[in-house]
Amino acid sequence: MRSLIDILDLSPSELDELMDTAVEIERHPEKFRAACAGKKIATLFFEPSTRTRMSFEAAMFELGGNVLSMSEASSSTAKGESVADTAKVISCYADIIAIRHPKEGAALVAAKNARVPVINAGDGGHCHPTQTLADLLTIRREKGRFEFLTVGLCGDLKYGRTVHSLIGALSRFEGIRFVLISPGELSLPEYVKTEVIEKNGLSFSEVSSLEEALPELDLLYMTRIQRERFEDPEEYERLKDSYILTPEKLSLAREDCCVLHPLPRVNEISVAVDDDPRACYFKQVQNGKLMRMALILKLLKEAEKPESEASRGEFLLEGKRCRNPRCILQTEQELPALLKKTAGGVCRCVWCESAIE
Ligand code: CP
Repeated sequence: MRSLIDILDLSPSELDELMDTAVEIERHPEKFRAACAGKKIATLFFEPSTRTRMSFEAAMFELGGNVLSMSEASSSTAKGESVADTAKVISCYADIIAIRHPKEGAALVAAKNARVPVINAGDGGHCHPTQTLADLLTIRREKGRFEFLTVGLCGDLKYGRTVHSLIGALSRFEGIRFVLISPGELSLPEYVKTEVIEKNGLSFSEVSSLEEALPELDLLYMTRIQRERFEDPEEYERLKDSYILTPEKLSLAREDCCVLHPLPRVNEISVAVDDDPRACYFKQVQNGKLMRMALILKLLKEAEKPESEASRGEFLLEGKRCRNPRCILQTEQELPALLKKTAGGVCRCVWCESAIE
């Protein structure tokens, strides 16, 4: 069953196809009003969300389908039901599932147990592929290309799942250069630098000053310092105001620089920036709904085809348990400690991709 767990599950040509469909939906919504008649999406959100959940639900309604909605507090998850069992059960009620969960790898566990397509709507600090779909359509519309862009990513690059997924998507394009702007404590995980950016022959630089980086950027992707990912509240207090984009700072950027943010923001972009034509973060919201409509259509169509043998066949080894406290392996009943070996010979947890020593 075709699911979307990681943005790399979609080829560049499939991304193009989704963006074309999204634009077509926007131009001719009437053609799609009954496209999912009789179909249901289950939105399983075990972490707070405004955009992702509401946009999946709006997307399904606008395609003529229906929505089943569940959160942790109102479900049997509160009684200790596993993600695996939940996915098996929901497969009896819905045609497609969108799941958000605080544990890294939870969406993959759901996909391996569901009988319907599963969409990762954010798994802890790991991935958020549908935010990347929103980001990509916005970049295509604003910049007209993906190649030869200097992309600044600012804020929480360590736990920023939107950052990890966007880097994965952009690393497949020629001439991309990343400028990683963060405090040392929140720098991008090593595996993203080596196994995603460098593996694709691209370059990056790491700086701590937003002002220093701004003049050279085609895109600035701001992110929130995420209180919920910190184990030490004092560390959050120390880092929370690391970057605040104001009109004064934005005056250092190019006239055609595009400012993105997955939202929600706390204070990292001053509201006074919203009227600047370079501020594109509310366009991302609209683009996100269109891309989720396109994705639902694609996955439901593919679900009608006979099952293929392909997909995620890299789960080969069983071995040492992953020690990442945020990995789904720590809470899921009887989940095997599976490992995969990367091209560089590093063993990684299949579920959360942490390196296993
Ligand atoms: N961008 C994003 O994922 O927003 P929500 O947390 O509101 O879904």
